[in-house]
Amino acid sequence: MTTRRSFLRWSAFAVSLSPVRSLFALPKSAAVKPIVVSTWDSGLAVNAAAWKVLKPGGYALDAVEESARSIESEISCCVGLGGNPDREGHVTLDACIMNEKYDCGSVAGLERILHPISVARKVMETTPHVMLIGEGAQQFAVANGFKLEEDKLSADAEKSYKEWLKKSEYKPLMNIEQQQGKTPKRAAGGPFAPNQFEDGSFNHDTMGTIAMDAKGRVSGSCTTSGMAFKMRGRIGDSPIIGAGLYVDGEVGAATSSGQGEEVIRLGGTHLVVEFMRNGATPMEACKKAVERLVKINPKKAKDFQVGFIAINLQGEVGAYSVNKGFSYAVTKADDGGKVFMAESYYK
Ligand code: GLY
Repeated sequence: MTTRRSFLRWSAFAVSLSPVRSLFALPKSAAVKPIVVSTWDSGLAVNAAAWKVLKPGGYALDAVEESARSIESEISCCVGLGGNPDREGHVTLDACIMNEKYDCGSVAGLERILHPISVARKVMETTPHVMLIGEGAQQFAVANGFKLEEDKLSADAEKSYKEWLKKSEYKPLMNIEQQQGKTPKRAAGGPFAPNQFEDGSFNHDTMGTIAMDAKGRVSGSCTTSGMAFKMRGRIGDSPIIGAGLYVDGEVGAATSSGQGEEVIRLGGTHLVVEFMRNGATPMEACKKAVERLVKINPKKAKDFQVGFIAINLQGEVGAYSVNKGFSYAVTKADDGGKVFMAESYYK
């Protein structure tokens, strides 16, 4: 006979199994799509570029490339050629892209090319490789018609770099500073999330975008100039498939922003997607990945920021960060989208 207790035990067992759990999931036809989600407040403008592709029924891969290109074209301190340089004064760009069929491409440490995301896509579509770095990536880009831009810092980056050179101290502090009441240099109202503070300290935000199109195909892109004033040659999580971005056409997609070293150590976005594969919602998956990060960094985690965003094939969205201050933008209708503040481990 089934007692109430055995029924409850059975129910708990059932929802812990992914194939069983999928019985309770929304039918695919009820999925929210198209949908596009990006990191930070600046994700709203980026989502708008993706939406132009998604709304008329375009491919999610084209949408996430367009979103990354839109922010790469801006003179922003953390993405693209306007970004802060490494400690030797060179702007080096990292980007990757992935579709629902595990096709992926990536460039790292790329200099003087305006759209690293499009070079990453070229790597994916025209080479037998996944990742090209540095000089080789630049050669490949130029050979494929990308213009070699002037070797010059933006006015903002030059000023920040000169300021940084006074102490030459490597101190990644992420958006925690903003929480501590420091004044963002980039005034509210500008399209991009603040990442440079009046006192000269800095922060950064990688642009990660994940999308599902009207046909249910998921894709993602990730683009950044990396940590400001990093060591020459340093590569973060953003161009690394499974760290800064992961997409699985049977499950969903995830991307990250924050201190890349910590995300690489964890295999962060692959972990998020695997949690979803095993039945977690995107929100649960991002939270579990952050909890793992904190567990392996019990002493350091309060002092760095990492945030994950994820979507599944039902069009459910999740986000979670280690510390407060990680925002993300969701666009799933023709209403301009909305920015949310992610929940965080440390409140
Ligand atoms: N998440 C970007 C970086 O660490 O470079």
